[in-house]
Formats: sequence, structure tokens, C-alpha cells
Amino acid sequence: MSELPFPQSFNLVFFGGTGDLVMRKLLPAMYQSYKNGQLGDAGYFYCLGRRDYTVEDYRAIAEEKARQFLPKADWDDEIWAAFRRRVIYERIDAENPEEYAALKALLERTPAEVNVFFLSVAPSLFSMICESLARQKLNGPNSRVVLEKPLGHDLASSNAITVAVGRHYQEKQIYRIDHYLGKESVQNLMALRFGNALFEPLWRRQWITDVQITIAEEVGIGSRAGFYDGTGALRDMVQNHLLQLLCFVAMEPPSSLDSDAIRNEKLKVLECLVPFTPEDVQVNTVRGQYRAGICGGQAVPGYLEESGVPAGSKTETFVAIKAEIANWRWAGVPFYLFTGKRLPTRLADIVIHFHDVPHHIFPLPRNGSRAPAKLVIRLQPDESIRLYLNAKRPGHSMELRPVSLDLDFTSKFSERREEAYERLLLDIIRGNQSLFVRQDELEMAWRWVEPILNTWAADPRGPEAYKAGTWGPAASAELLSRSGHRWHEDD
Ligand code: BG6
Repeated sequence: MSELPFPQSFNLVFFGGTGDLVMRKLLPAMYQSYKNGQLGDAGYFYCLGRRDYTVEDYRAIAEEKARQFLPKADWDDEIWAAFRRRVIYERIDAENPEEYAALKALLERTPAEVNVFFLSVAPSLFSMICESLARQKLNGPNSRVVLEKPLGHDLASSNAITVAVGRHYQEKQIYRIDHYLGKESVQNLMALRFGNALFEPLWRRQWITDVQITIAEEVGIGSRAGFYDGTGALRDMVQNHLLQLLCFVAMEPPSSLDSDAIRNEKLKVLECLVPFTPEDVQVNTVRGQYRAGICGGQAVPGYLEESGVPAGSKTETFVAIKAEIANWRWAGVPFYLFTGKRLPTRLADIVIHFHDVPHHIFPLPRNGSRAPAKLVIRLQPDESIRLYLNAKRPGHSMELRPVSLDLDFTSKFSERREEAYERLLLDIIRGNQSLFVRQDELEMAWRWVEPILNTWAADPRGPEAYKAGTWGPAASAELLSRSGHRWHEDD
């Protein structure tokens, strides 16, 4: 995460230039960085696609989308006009190796210190794109390749991508994106843990009863049935985002902010995750699929009624898992992972529950339950850290009540908070791999997830139903209560 110098010049090439990610996230992110003066006049954005657009057609579409997705307050006509001159569309069919000579010729018009190839396309094209780039010698030390998830469907297909890309690019040239790592709040978790001595002595099994990591979404699958039905929540959210968050919570202090120092520690956590047997999968995982219900005040269809979802689909839209990390720091502490679509609200947080005091001298509170300390790290929608402690209620009785010490990042820092892709793209151009997933991490994550996938696939029962707008199947609450734990509830 340390600051590396920004190159004097760069070309950023987007394969899949007419796709949703480029239009909705990547070009707006680069506009923001340009506007903030972080790019200087150093870069060109080459957007490749098969459609017959002129450069001006493409720029007009990109502008329309950018206006839609950027906050109004961040729009500046003059800056956009200067930025759009740097956006160049080229009709190149990524599946035709013959057309890469044209790409090479194009890049020769703006020779740059760094060439970044962002593959915002189906993973089935990764191999041939890398090979075709290499044939044009676009894989030298100044070239970087960026891979977006899904990075495989299982361990074997993920390894096949690794081998295919690795034939032409070295690990230090490969940037595997997990956009959660670009979120400011995830980096703040590092700051909290390793920039303060306060928590470190408590950050272990002796003081922590359980950890809950939740990524809840209010949205359904939208128009993504084609992708989602073959994927499901375990592959879409757990294999990557949730396991990465778990690593940041559980890892040992890295020796520095060096990319490999951080990634070595994350890898050790993944290696210590206790593998699931088929029996464990039955006991310690819950999968669900939403049915029609009310979400965000609106009646919404069930998963099986969404357009494009095959009848009788068993794809899960909700997952709850009780995971365990077998090492000295965490043995016996459950890490509960939750994620789902069509839940009551959009929310991502990490909750650390601490042990209760060993002996009570205060009366039992009126609601009949004590509330040991807990730390709630909210990643989104708002970013905050809250430490809940017990304090005495005003009055004659010595009854305690939980109150929170609040750190609200938006009010504490006046600086604008970068979007995940702004941070990640700048890091790629700069050559900083700290927030990108290394090949061995990816492989370990798949190794851990695969027995769950296989056991579910072999189980004819399929996912449990839950009503849209609720917190998932009842079995997920039982997963906690069986071990004497409870879902964290917001106050
Ligand atoms: C993506 C998943 O990786 O993350 C989507 O493919 C999901 O299904 C999205 O909606 C959630 O990201 P965020 O940043 O909106 O929480």
C-alpha cells in the first residue's frame, strides 16, 4: 500500500470496452482521478469492442453513462471535455488474433512507460487474449494484465486460467481484482488493527467469542440471470469478497505494507481454514433462495420468477457458513459468514463479539440479558467503527446498558472518499499489488470452497426458501444459536 511513483505516461486498454463495467465503473473512476489531478496528462484510455462505433459515437455513449453514474456534484463539463479527448474507441474483435496487430499499431501512437490491459470480458477469453497480446510482444516488463472475477468456476477451471495467463505474464504483472479490497473501509481495518496498540492484545481467542462478517444486499439478480444462475452466492461473494474480509480480520501483523508481506499473511489464514467434510457442510452451512416478498417497500418476484432463471433452479442466493481457523490465535472461535440478495437492506459489516466479564457484580438488566462488549466495523453504506461498552444508566439502580463509542468516517474526514475502482486502477498503473489477490490465495480460497460446492451439488434438497425482505432462512439463525451466539442487531 506504500506510495510508488506514478508513471510519466500510460495506456490503459479496456477489453470489453462497450460493457457495463467499463461504462458504469471504470471510465467514471478514471474521470474522477483525472479531475482530482491524480493522472496529470499522462494517460490514454483505449476502449475495445466489436461494435461499429466511431470514436465520437463511443465518447457520446460514455458521457451519457458517466452522467448517469457519477454524483452530480462531481460533474464538470470542462474537465469531462478534456478527459474524453483521451478516450479512444477502436473496433477490435478480441477473439480474432489477426486484429491484435492493429492494437499494437494503435499503442505505438502513444508510446508509454506502462501498458495496462484490463480484461473486462468472459474468463473463457483470458487465455486467447493473453496469447494474442504476447504474439504482438505486448507482454514485456512494462505490460500489466488485469483480471476481473469470476476467476474460474471451481479449482480446476481457476487453475487453468492461472496456467494460461502465466504462460505469457509473470505474477508481478498480473492484477486480480477483488473490488472489496479497494474499499476505503477495508484498508481502515488494517489501520485499526495495526495502527493502534489497543486492540492487538484482545484480538484473539482468549477475548473474542465469535466474529460475524455480513454482506447483505437489497437488490435481486436484476438482468444477470445468465451469469448468476450458473454461479450462485458461494462463488459470487464468499469465495472472494467474504474470504478476503476474513483474511483482513484474522491475519497476523505483516512486517510492512509491502504487497507480498500482506499477501503472505492472508495466505496463511486461508491455509488454516478448517476444510469441510460432507458432514460438516450439512451442519455448518445454510443455503437459501429468495421467494416473492416485499423489499425496499416494493413487491418483488421470487428468484424462480426472475427473467432468464431456469425452472426448478437450485442456485443459492443466500449463504451462511460457520468457518473455523485452526491456529494459535483463532482455534475455537467461529467466523460466521453471511451473504444474500433480497435481504431487508444493503449493508456490509464485521462484528467482533468479546467475552463477558468473568464475574457479575451488577444486577441483570431489565431486558434479562447482559451485553458483553462488541466492535462493529461498518463497511457500507456508511462507514463507521462502533465500540459497544456497558455504562450505568442514570438513576439510583446500578443497572448497565450498552452504549457505543462512535467513529463516523464521513464526519471525521472532510476529504472525498474514493470509489474502489479509482483506488485499484491507480494502484495498477503505479504497480502496487497490495490490494490484489495473489495466485496462491486464489487457489487456497477455491480449495476451501470446493467441498461445499460439491456437497451441495450432490444434495437433491437444494436451497431453503426465504421470503424476499427477510434475513434469510431460519436455519441461519440456528447456526449461531446452536453455539450460543446471536446475530448482531443494529441499535
Ligand atoms: C459483485 C457481485 O462482485 O459484488 C455482485 O458479482 C454483487 O453480485 C456485488 O452485487 C456487490 O458489490 P458492492 O460493492 O455493491 O457491495
